[in-house]
Amino acid sequence: MTAAPASPAKAPPSLYDRIGGADGVRLVVDRFYDLMEHAPEYAELRAMHDADLLPVRVSLTQFLAAWLGGPRDWFVARPGACIMSLHREMPITRETARQWVHAMSRALAENRVEPALGAQMQQSFLRMAHAMMLRGE
Ligand code: HEM
Repeated sequence: MTAAPASPAKAPPSLYDRIGGADGVRLVVDRFYDLMEHAPEYAELRAMHDADLLPVRVSLTQFLAAWLGGPRDWFVARPGACIMSLHREMPITRETARQWVHAMSRALAENRVEPALGAQMQQSFLRMAHAMMLRGE
């Protein structure tokens, strides 16, 4: 008796698929910058950014798409770029790092990102934000 051929293993969905692909990422990033732009509790974070938030909206959308396993346009356009190095010269304090993580957590929750994925992303952002803070803070 011959065994039935094993069915080909189905690859699990990527984090990019789980957030809803390009539309899912864009909704989160848009909400994040809308909060930064209009909610007074993020005023200090807003003040660090350029008056025109469009370029950074586009950049963060592309960065997160790649970071979640989607299209790699952000890295293709910036060979050798590193997100941590890009923030090295920025005067990021404990408070502005906290505001960044808080606004992003709200954007993830309000867009109903799958809780396990949202928690995983928040953990990573928390670690990155901590490492981006000024030393000695
Ligand atoms: C720790 C708190 C953070 C602060 C205070 C902060 C602040 C900033 C500022 C001031 C800019 C320049 C934008 C402009 O001039 O309009 C920027 C750019 C950017 N940030 Fe952050 N950031 C933080 C964390 C993060 C994290 C965790 C990520 C990624 C997950 C990220 C991704 C980006 C991207 C993709 C850009 C645009 C880079 C470019 O295209 O040159 N940031 N950030």
